Amino acid sequence: MTLTPVHFFSHGSTMMLREHCSSTDYWKQCGDEALKHGIKGVVFMGAHWDTIGDQIQVSTNPNPAKSPVAYVHPSKYVDYELNPDIRTANRCIDLLAKAGYNVSGNDKFDWIHDVYLILVRMFPKACPPTTIISLNARYDPHYHMKVGSTLRHLRKENYLLIGTGGSVHNLYRNRWAPMLRFRDNFAQDSPPETWALEFRQAVEDVFTKNSGPALRRAVTRLMKHPEYRDAHATDDHFMAAMFVAGAAGDFEDEGTFAVLGAETWELTNMCNTQYTIGSW
Ligand SMILES: [Fe+2]
Repeated sequence: MTLTPVHFFSHGSTMMLREHCSSTDYWKQCGDEALKHGIKGVVFMGAHWDTIGDQIQVSTNPNPAKSPVAYVHPSKYVDYELNPDIRTANRCIDLLAKAGYNVSGNDKFDWIHDVYLILVRMFPKACPPTTIISLNARYDPHYHMKVGSTLRHLRKENYLLIGTGGSVHNLYRNRWAPMLRFRDNFAQDSPPETWALEFRQAVEDVFTKNSGPALRRAVTRLMKHPEYRDAHATDDHFMAAMFVAGAAGDFEDEGTFAVLGAETWELTNMCNTQYTIGSW
């Protein structure tokens, strides 16, 4: 039985919708491959939608709007037609409820650029049927890893599972001046700081040198890394990594190591690394 690949994509700043780079090329390449293999749909865990208490939600909004993005001309995204997959959303709700989650549909949720930026880049011609799973705002790594393991079976049905967050993503430590003054998000007038380089390397080592349940242990353990809090001032952009480890860290995944597909530094200290576990 074939298992679809799983992606951990670092979506970076909103400028990744406006400027081309090796990461945007890689997203397009992954989208082309997914279409070539006839995916049934895409299931996302993002970074920008969380639910409080002990809940998790799945988007069941049949006509979601798009939250606007700063610094990007609306022509880059306003006409892109979203394609919510309500049937699969309800199926995810059932699977998560059976696994013990306090889960419900949210028919009011509007989509945010963590998800539609990736969709526009991967599938510029048309959005495939798409499901979005929220985060839980307690940011428990094991909870989010289990969401991935619960939905992992969808990989056997030709769904593409994607976590969209960031490998090094601390908005408080970015150097914003070149972007604000010159719209140059890729400016590097000094090298990234040591904590960013260290954590970026730790993420690469974990993803590319562990597989199966060892990957799950290693990814969740990254939140105890001494540089973690510098690399992620808030936990929201790292939960997608947990989801990915859950979705691609079963015993059946042993021996399948992540590939670092592309990497783009933005705003000096933000590292947008793109990983894929498994192949078509
Ligand atoms: Fe983000």
